[in-house]
Amino acid sequence: MKRITVAVDGYSSCGKSTMAKTLARSVGYIYVDTGAMYRAIALYAIRTNLIKGNIVDKKGLIESLKNITVSFSQDGSTILNGENVEKDIRGLQVSQSVSYISAVPEVRSHLVSLQRQLGKNGGIVMDGRDIGTVVFPNAELKIFVTADAAVRATRRYDELKTKGQEADYNDILENIRQRDHLDETREVSPLRKAPDAILLDNSNLTKDEQNKWVMEKFVEVCQN
Ligand code: DC
Repeated sequence: MKRITVAVDGYSSCGKSTMAKTLARSVGYIYVDTGAMYRAIALYAIRTNLIKGNIVDKKGLIESLKNITVSFSQDGSTILNGENVEKDIRGLQVSQSVSYISAVPEVRSHLVSLQRQLGKNGGIVMDGRDIGTVVFPNAELKIFVTADAAVRATRRYDELKTKGQEADYNDILENIRQRDHLDETREVSPLRKAPDAILLDNSNLTKDEQNKWVMEKFVEVCQN
């Protein structure tokens, strides 16, 4: 059977990654979390003082791109220059910086070419913001996921608490709203639903219902 490309785009913290990861595992495809790649670069920028607040040292960051390698381990953890940074990239500091980093065109083109390389043989589920519009405009299955901001904030809060990390609901909600705004209004590759993407609002869906829905879409596309 043909190994297709599945593009999953949508708003932050709406369960895209969990859905995409589950689908990839069920059908034996590679899974790539492109948000983690932008987060890894944001972490690098924080550590090397290339971002302070919302001010990015663009020249310095662009020059540093050649020194940054982002990859994934067997278990899907994000690796930045050989170091497992999976936990570090999920904290609030990186979440607050990453939209500014991902708005830099050179950062995007650097990561987009890496993403195309990872998906060149198909058999991949990739999630992000611009997968169906920019990275793989010819993907056979495109899904655009959204959910109410308050629902997303609650899910993110629960996730951080479960992991034993610090969390404040209002800070998280504010951060989600701010990231939605920055993602939608940035000049390069703003968050947009591709015209041929299927819209999924999962505000009122359980994980199981969502997984069932996406598997049905996957089977439909593979059979056609
Ligand atoms: O999915 P996430 O919240 O981990 O993504 C982190 C940030 O990276 C988010 O602010 C949007 C940005 N991003 C992007 O611009 N393009 C992508 N393909 C993936 C993420």
